[in-house]
Amino acid sequence: MFDKKLEIPIASDHGGFELKQFLIDQLSGSGYHLVDMGTFGTESVDYPDFIHPLAKAINDEKYNLGIIICGSGQGASMTANKYPNVRAALLWDEEQAKLTRQHNNANIVSLPGRFIDEDLAVKIVEAFLNEDFEGGRHLTRVNKMSEVLK
Ligand code: RB5
Repeated sequence: MFDKKLEIPIASDHGGFELKQFLIDQLSGSGYHLVDMGTFGTESVDYPDFIHPLAKAINDEKYNLGIIICGSGQGASMTANKYPNVRAALLWDEEQAKLTRQHNNANIVSLPGRFIDEDLAVKIVEAFLNEDFEGGRHLTRVNKMSEVLK
């Protein structure tokens, strides 16, 4: 179970702005503490400008888990995954959300704001937050992610 005392950073571009606002409202109402890292309006912006600060904060262990959103979820997850301690998962359903916590120790959920409805997004995020990493053989595999070939 997620410790609701912990802060959860959330960031998006314009493609994810409306879903970000919805998630902040819904999850705050359920007792979660979200930290809004922008964007703060619907005008067109470059997603890396908002995803980099959140990914760096996760990378630096300022927060445990975070939420990022762009139109497709793709650019946001690609940007976040540039950081060595970040494992950002692009998610479309609850089962995948649970699995990527259990098996991959994902620490950021990336959502496709233009492709999922609001209720599903809440379910995905809550599933993601409340599932734990299983460790064991999965830890061996997660550690091997950093062993890039030269
Ligand atoms: C913005 O139009 C869009 O390209 C962005 O939100 C995202 O989908 C990029 O991966």
